[in-house]
Amino acid sequence: MTTFSSTLVVRPVELSDLHRIKEILVASIPAGKEVDHAMQSIVSSLNNANSVRYYVASSSKAIYGLMGITDSNIDPQLCDSHEKPIELVNAYVQPRLRARGVGGILADKLEQIAIDEGYTKLIIVSGSRNRVSGYPFWRKRYGEPTRIDPDYWGATNERVVWTKKIA
Ligand SMILES: CC(C)(COP(=O)(O)OP(=O)(O)OC[C@H]1O[C@@H](n2cnc3c(N)ncnc32)[C@H](O)[C@@H]1OP(=O)(O)O)[C@@H](O)C(=O)NCCC(=O)NCCS
Repeated sequence: MTTFSSTLVVRPVELSDLHRIKEILVASIPAGKEVDHAMQSIVSSLNNANSVRYYVASSSKAIYGLMGITDSNIDPQLCDSHEKPIELVNAYVQPRLRARGVGGILADKLEQIAIDEGYTKLIIVSGSRNRVSGYPFWRKRYGEPTRIDPDYWGATNERVVWTKKIA
């Protein structure tokens, strides 16, 4: 199976990426308002109106995946006061290109950005919808979750948290 380590670049999202990113989100997220919320957040980010930074894994004009990083709105329960936390958000790879290394390349890059900027703790928060599609990726990368909060987002809808000390 082809992997992309030599052909992909990870770069900040650009305005011209938006329609390709939306295709990935629509293919990845069950119908509802979440695609719109995510797109609004990406547009706000491009306008410097929020503190999320979005990156794409790209080759030529194609967009293979998206991941964001932010130090805002982090649940204080997930870190100690002496820590400088940052969170990975909105991790999505085109369905037909999953399990070929794209998500790992994005996470490697964002983790390095966090280290370079002096953050001390990386946080990933996930929930039941991603049990099959997302948990295995984070578990493979960061081991067993640091925390599982059953019913956090409603009955049978747990919050699962991975953390990694990066300094
Ligand atoms: C999660 C996601 C971003 C990971 O991206 P990816 O490109 O598929 O991940 P990679 O190919 O870099 O995977 C790295 C490793 O994790 C494993 N892995 C990733 N997703 C997996 C899954 N759903 N089930 C089992 N293993 C998985 C890969 O097999 C790979 O293992 P290897 O190193 O032994 O080859 C992507 O699968 C995705 O978009 N999922 C749907 C959306 C989602 O759930 N996002 C997470 C929200 S918290």
